Amino acid sequence: MHTRHVVSARDLGLGFCRELFKRADEYRTRLDRDPTSCITDLSGRVALLWFRQPSTRTLVSFEMAAVRLGMSVVQVIDPQFSSEYKGESEDHSMRTVAGYRPDALIIRHNQEGGVARAAASAARAFGGPVPVINAGDGKGEHPTQALIDVYTLLQLWNNGTQQDLSGAHIAIGGDLQGRVPRSLAFLLADYGPEITFISAPELRVGEDVKEYLRTRDISFTEETEIDGTLQRAHFWYWTRTQNDQRTDKEKARLAHVDPRSMQLRLSHVRGMRKGAKILHPMPINRKPGDVSEIEPAIDDIDTAAYWQQSANGLYVRMAVLQTLCSP
Ligand code: MLT
Repeated sequence: MHTRHVVSARDLGLGFCRELFKRADEYRTRLDRDPTSCITDLSGRVALLWFRQPSTRTLVSFEMAAVRLGMSVVQVIDPQFSSEYKGESEDHSMRTVAGYRPDALIIRHNQEGGVARAAASAARAFGGPVPVINAGDGKGEHPTQALIDVYTLLQLWNNGTQQDLSGAHIAIGGDLQGRVPRSLAFLLADYGPEITFISAPELRVGEDVKEYLRTRDISFTEETEIDGTLQRAHFWYWTRTQNDQRTDKEKARLAHVDPRSMQLRLSHVRGMRKGAKILHPMPINRKPGDVSEIEPAIDDIDTAAYWQQSANGLYVRMAVLQTLCSP
C-alpha cells in the first residue's frame, strides 16, 4: 500500500483537502457534544513527535489531536538528548525510530528540506515506510499550518457557504520568507483567491512561490505599505519577523527594516472594509521592548480571527492523523 506523507502543501490536492476538512468539521461537532466520542479505530496507535525546534501550537495540538483520537504519543522534543549527541547520523536515527513502527512520525526540523530527508530515511526503515508529517522545516514549509489557515478562511468566507475562496481578497503580510506564508500561498493556489503580498522589500515572498502562483493563474500583487490595501482585502494574514530562523549575518542585513512599517494597528482596523478579519499563525511577538506585528488592543476585538484559527488546529490535525493512520 502507498504510504501517504504530508511534506509539502504543493502535494496535497483539492480532493484530499476537501475530505480532510469534512472530517475536521465532524470532529468539531463531536468534540462539542462529547469529547470522548472521537476515540475510534485509532486507539492503540502511536504518534511519534520528533521536534528539533520550539513549538507551542503545533506540538500541543498534534498531541491533543492524537490523544482525543485514542492514540498514544511518544515525544522527543530535544534530539540533543538522543544518540545524535554521540555522533549518530540523522539518517540512522530516523531509520531506527521508524523501525519501531509509529503510525505517524511528526517531525519539526531546523533545516529546509530536513523533513523530506527524514521521510526518505524512514522509507528505508526495517519493516517498511511509515507516514511522515512535516510540522515545519526551517524556512521550507509548514503544510498542516496551511491546512488550518485555509480551513479557517473557508469558515469565515461567505459564512462558510463556499468550497473555494474565489472572490476573496487576502493580504498576506509581514515577513514573507518564512515557511508559513510559503505553504499558505501554495495551498491557496487550489482555492482561487486574489492575493496581495505586503512586506518590506527585503522580506518579499520567494520567486519560487510567485512562479507557482503564476503557473496556477492566481492573481497577486506586491506592496510595501499597508494603507493602499485596507479597503480592498477581506482577510489580513499577518506574520512575525522570523529572526530565529536567520543567521547573525542575515539579521544584520535586515537590521534597518523598521518593524513599525508592518505593524497592524487599531487605526488600520478602522480603515479596513466591513467584516474584515485578521489571521496569524502565532506566536505573535510580544517581547518587552519589541514592536509587536499586531497591536495588543486588537487581540480582543471581533476582527481578530487568530484565536479561532489556532483552535482549529486541533480539528484539522485530528483529521490529518485520521487520514494518515487509519488501518
Ligand atoms: C511556525 O512554527 O512556523 C509557526 O507556526 C509560525 C512562527 O513561528 O512564526
